[in-house]
Amino acid sequence: MSNNYIQIFDTTLRDGEQVPGCKLDTKQKVIIAEQLDLLGVNVIEAGFPVSSPGDFNAVKAVSRVVKNATVCALSRSVKNDIKTAAESLEGAKYPRIHTGIGTSESHIKYKFKTTQEDILERAFEAVKYAKTFVEDIEFYAEDAGRTNNEYLARVCEAAIKAGATVLNIPDTTGYCLPSEYGSKIKYLKEHVKGIDNVILSCHCHNDLGLATANAIEGIINGAKQVECTINGIGERAGNTALEEVVMVLKQHPYLNIETQIDTTRLYGISQLVSESMGVYTQPNKAIVGVNAFAHSSGIHQDGIIKNRETYEIINPKDVGVIESSIVLTARSGRAALAYRAKNVGYNLTKLQLDNVYENFLHFADKKKEVNNNDIHQIIETSKVYQEIKTN
Ligand code: KIV
Ligand code: ZN
Repeated sequence: MSNNYIQIFDTTLRDGEQVPGCKLDTKQKVIIAEQLDLLGVNVIEAGFPVSSPGDFNAVKAVSRVVKNATVCALSRSVKNDIKTAAESLEGAKYPRIHTGIGTSESHIKYKFKTTQEDILERAFEAVKYAKTFVEDIEFYAEDAGRTNNEYLARVCEAAIKAGATVLNIPDTTGYCLPSEYGSKIKYLKEHVKGIDNVILSCHCHNDLGLATANAIEGIINGAKQVECTINGIGERAGNTALEEVVMVLKQHPYLNIETQIDTTRLYGISQLVSESMGVYTQPNKAIVGVNAFAHSSGIHQDGIIKNRETYEIINPKDVGVIESSIVLTARSGRAALAYRAKNVGYNLTKLQLDNVYENFLHFADKKKEVNNNDIHQIIETSKVYQEIKTN
């Protein structure tokens, strides 16, 4: 594997599915997992098997159908969780157990009511136990974002000693600034014994809208795996959006960081996840929102019609969107109206366009968006219709 290659760990079916109202049944999970596999993700986190029999069966079913990706199951640092995760992964070609424990002061003090030394020991024992089932063990230090770096380094060393292959550094509460999260990854790279033998992973939440920026800083500072979800779906404000992180890396080639994602599948899988979960993606969502390639103001439309790159940094086809759209509203100009009129069969001269445009503005002021039927009506009721008809 080349040194500039980043693994994509998708947790749509686990962290994404934790969102209230987003529960998926086994069949839906299997369909999404197959599409994630085709998309080219390296790891699919399929669920938290001890949480319910349904989730156990879903992880089992996903394990059987995934052909290329590693299938991962979550557990706490609890023996029964780990054993159940291992059982659910039995049919997987490449199984991974993801186990871990909270490491921040507040988790240790309030959630576990224990000491740092006890957490260190539990982390070590969990990884060691998981290792008796499968070779590939990812350890997560929950709330690493708010964990003191020196202590976090000790926890990471304990997990490595016990046999962890991947260390996940979650900003569980989405608190970190990008520079802070990047420095945390750098600190661990520089201070943890044995760190070069394992993969460091970023797992960022979006409570301050920084999940993608933080993940990118983590990657720049040495993380080789990024955990994300389709559409950024996840607990509270969500997780790092897979489509965002992949396209940031693709559109900034000088970063020299590659993934194996087939980006032309991004829009399709975004639609699949949103329909399966019943959660509609915000229109202005980067990459996959319905407005991500829609242009509605006159100045922008004129630029786009002359050359797409004036207002688009991504070719829509690269993410599976057929084409950019020119939306007609009262803010649109003549260029956009002429373009859309041509698409429905009218080649307007400059004088005809001036006349039809006046009609259009009256119409558009009353309507949010002017559609193709409206264009016919606007042209047919214009003073120059007879002339246009005989063109
Ligand atoms: O955000 C988080 O800390 C998690 C862990 C369970 C990996 O999702
Ligand atoms: Zn998470």
